[in-house]
Formats: sequence, structure tokens, C-alpha cells
Amino acid sequence: MLSWIIKNQLAEVLIGRANAQSFMPTQASEIAKSVDSLYSFLLIISLIACVIVIGGMIYFAYKYRRRSANDKTAYISHDTRLEILWSVIPLVIFLFVFAWGWIIYHDMRTMPKEALEIQVIGRQWAWVAEYKNGVQSNVLVVPVKRDIRLVLSSPDVIHSFYVPSFRIKQDVVPGRYTSLWFRAEVMGEFHVFCAEFCGTSHSGMITKLRVVSQTDFDKWLIEEADSSLLPPVEYGKKLFTTKTCASCHFEDQPGVKIGPTMKGLFGLENHEMVDGTTVTADENYLRESILASQAKVVKGFGPRSAMPAFQGQLSEKELSAIIEYIKSIK
Ligand code: CUA
Repeated sequence: MLSWIIKNQLAEVLIGRANAQSFMPTQASEIAKSVDSLYSFLLIISLIACVIVIGGMIYFAYKYRRRSANDKTAYISHDTRLEILWSVIPLVIFLFVFAWGWIIYHDMRTMPKEALEIQVIGRQWAWVAEYKNGVQSNVLVVPVKRDIRLVLSSPDVIHSFYVPSFRIKQDVVPGRYTSLWFRAEVMGEFHVFCAEFCGTSHSGMITKLRVVSQTDFDKWLIEEADSSLLPPVEYGKKLFTTKTCASCHFEDQPGVKIGPTMKGLFGLENHEMVDGTTVTADENYLRESILASQAKVVKGFGPRSAMPAFQGQLSEKELSAIIEYIKSIK
């Protein structure tokens, strides 16, 4: 089994397309192949070293075991040639690995000049992609075989943008921009994770990266751009996702999620708060709860709710569309 793995991995390294497909996510970007080749090389070198060291220990322990009470331990000093050899060989291997790693890292960090730029905002707890024509989307849609540069930012805490299939990961830091580039080689849908613990719903801070043809991409971008002309309820429904409400509030099912459900909320009388007071869930209550979420916290969700305040994050048009949408969830 082990020899089979080593043989197959070695063969792949040798023909220059090391591919640990059996236990790694799909290689969907150019850089993924280089990363995997280096990874496989490290794995094989470590396995060989492990076999030599552990095997040698077992062999010598057996060969030079004490056979009788008269056995004397031989006087062992040192061997300069051997010592030089086992210092120089690993040194050469490590320098080689360093150089290989540096080349890949340099590729990863050198932003291509003619890249399609997309702003990606990571916030508690969702990803939002902003395109040059103003389109905002929770799903990151990109054209295939084209250099893409992401400019990452965060309005709250540190997140980390991670696409395993592309072998790329970059911290998203509040107060500054970080960037990342990739070139998707295959079409399809890939997972995007947040790889930096960022609060209650960190584990839910996931989205999809959809790689489509250039034609489909252009079409999608135009269709999405038209969505702000939608009727308020539909526009609000879209915003409910892109503005991250949906990651904590179920639209229809009660319970389970972090925030209270929106189902049947509008018009609710005697809506109980954590401090024992009750309110009527009218437009002004919804408005206040979105803009200053800490003002009134629903019973069972406090005492300090985890919801970020949206003051300054929404235009009046967006705010009323979201409220219209919440009103429509019966
Ligand atoms: Cu964002 Cu973890």
C-alpha cells in the first residue's frame, strides 16, 4: 500500500505533474498544480527520511543488541566524513525546497498587470463581491482562464479568504486593503471559506466561487446590474442575502439560526425584548433594529446581540427595500 502510494506519487513528480488528487481538493487554478507538486515532493522526502531514520534505528538496535552478559560496548568516537555527509545532504535538500517554495510564492504574490479587478468585502458573516459596474453579489462569479485580482477589505474584524481548490488564502484586515490573484483553469463551482475565527457565525461564513465562460460572465454582469430596478420586495430579497442578513436570520423557518426568524415578524404586537419590555414590530422598529441593532434585543437573543449595526452601510433605498421584503415574509 505504502510503496504503491510512494511509487505513484514519485512517478507523478517525475513527470512534472504531481497531483495528490486522492486526498486534495480539485486543482482548479494554475498555481494549484505548482503548490501540489511541491507538497508531494515534501511528502515523499519526509517519507524517505522517516524510513531511513526509523528503519536505521530498528535495524541497529537489533544488530548491536546485547547478546550475553560478557558483551562489551565498543568504544565509538565519531566519523567526520559521515557527519559532513548527513549535514550537507539535508542542507542541499532544504535549500532546494526553499528555492522551489520561493518561486511559487513569488508567482502567487506578483499581481498580473492585465487582471480583472473585483472588490471583495468580508464582514460578519458573509462575503460580498463588488464589480466595477456596481454589481454586488454574495457568490463570486469569474470568467475562466483569465487573471483575476481580488482587492479584499473588511469593515469589522479580521477574516481570511480561502479557496482550497485554488490553493489560495489571504487575510482580510480591517483598515487596509490586501490583494490576491488567481487564474481559474476549469469551470465549475468551488467553496470559499473564512479561515480566520471571526465570531459567532465564523463557520457559516462560506460562499461559492463560480467559474463561467467569458460570455456567461458578461451576461451575468448585465443581468445583475439590472436588479436595482427590481420592485422593492424583490430588490430587498436580494439585499437580504448580499447584505448578509440571511446568514443569521432565516426567512421562513423559526429557531435554529443565530438571529430571530423574520417569518411573521411584521405587525407582531407584544414582541418581547430581552429587558422585559414589548414592542410592536412596525416599520420603525425594523428600521431601528437594522441600523442600531443593539437598541432593542429580542428575548432569547442577548443580552448583547451579536448583530452588527448597519448605520452608514445602507442607502435609504436599500433600507426600505429590505424592510419591504421583511414585511412580505408572512
Ligand atoms: Cu470571517 Cu471567520
